[in-house]
Amino acid sequence: MLLDRLGRPLSDLRLSVTDRCNFRCPYCMPRGAPGSSSFLPRKEILSFEELTLVARVFRELGVRKIRLTGGEPLLRRDLPRLVERLRALDVELALTTNGVLLPRFARELRQAGLDRVTVSLDALDGQVFQAMSDAPGFGPADVLAGIEAAERAGFTVLKINCVVRRGVNDSEVPRLIERFAHTPHVLRFIEYMDVGTQNGWRRSEVLPTAELQRKLEELGELIPLPRERASDVAEEYQFRGARLGFISSVSAPFCGSCSRARVAADGGLFGCLFGPRLVDLKPILRGSADSERELADTIARYWRARADRYSEERSKQRRLPLAWGARAEMSRLGG
Ligand code: GTP
Ligand code: 5AD
Ligand code: SF4
Ligand code: SF4
Repeated sequence: MLLDRLGRPLSDLRLSVTDRCNFRCPYCMPRGAPGSSSFLPRKEILSFEELTLVARVFRELGVRKIRLTGGEPLLRRDLPRLVERLRALDVELALTTNGVLLPRFARELRQAGLDRVTVSLDALDGQVFQAMSDAPGFGPADVLAGIEAAERAGFTVLKINCVVRRGVNDSEVPRLIERFAHTPHVLRFIEYMDVGTQNGWRRSEVLPTAELQRKLEELGELIPLPRERASDVAEEYQFRGARLGFISSVSAPFCGSCSRARVAADGGLFGCLFGPRLVDLKPILRGSADSERELADTIARYWRARADRYSEERSKQRRLPLAWGARAEMSRLGG
């Protein structure tokens, strides 16, 4: 098992397949910010062959779960063909999406071998949805149609991600709970994070899990559920017939069990959502005579040297440990 300097194994890979998105969620890719209109040129983006090789090397190094992310991963042409290739690696394959393209792709993705789908949905009210997701032409009904398409395609248990911003969509929480009560899905509330450099994050907009839970307890009992895996980022509860998860990345960081490596769509390797790019894997993929061995050596070297625990450091020091310029945008890393 490959361990980093803090003893954390490399067990998860988050693989971004595109930096484009059809939404402009202000907490991720705010409209008007440089990252919302200039995207990677096609030749910079890893091909399916290259992505598959990267995934295979991570598999050899111990990764057992691969999550495809974006931007919006369903904007990547022929994504089901990539899923077919990755299926051969014998890893658990998941996808995080904003959901609106699922009616078109859910069945094909399932047939190609995708195991799990996570859908982002921040509000059921149309106006609040736009305030959270800035997605002209799309509304909550489109995301719900995506969720239903996924259910029909055989994705029986979905994770539904809801980023909570105080004063923007916290009023939607009870409706969302009601909507997903008595379904097998897990509705997860995520604390708004200061990820990237463009979202103008303010601590006052974070609704800490403890406060959200206090409000919910006025409506019913939160019954804790056991954690399935040590590396799970959410704490789960049963609440009024719904399965809820809370992701407290700001108020209770979980760096101690962080086993995730991230590869951006252009082949940049990241050891932390808030950290700098460690190395560009693309030159190895495109220039080495023995890419597979060199990739494995390079990734292993960087993982062994990894000591990132940004969220924990920030909560202790109350300041940002890394200069803004060195940080990547969430839309490049896919969460
Ligand atoms: P599985 O464990 O594969 O089910 O997925 P997940 O829960 O890791 O994936 P998902 O994309 O649904 O993660 C939910 C959200 O949690 C992300 O969008 C981020 O906001 C947050 N998150 C996930 N991983 C990390 C992490 O390593 N660090 C921090 N700070 N936040 C994370
Ligand atoms: N804070 C918390 N979560 C975020 N995501 C994107 N930006 C942020 C942020 N600033 C989450 C989205 C989605 C995943 C891809 O990343 O909700 O679920
Ligand atoms: Fe797109 Fe997801 Fe970022 Fe929203 S959070 S802009 S849907 S990548
Ligand atoms: Fe992992 Fe970095 Fe998130 Fe901590 S802040 S959990 S080290 S990605």
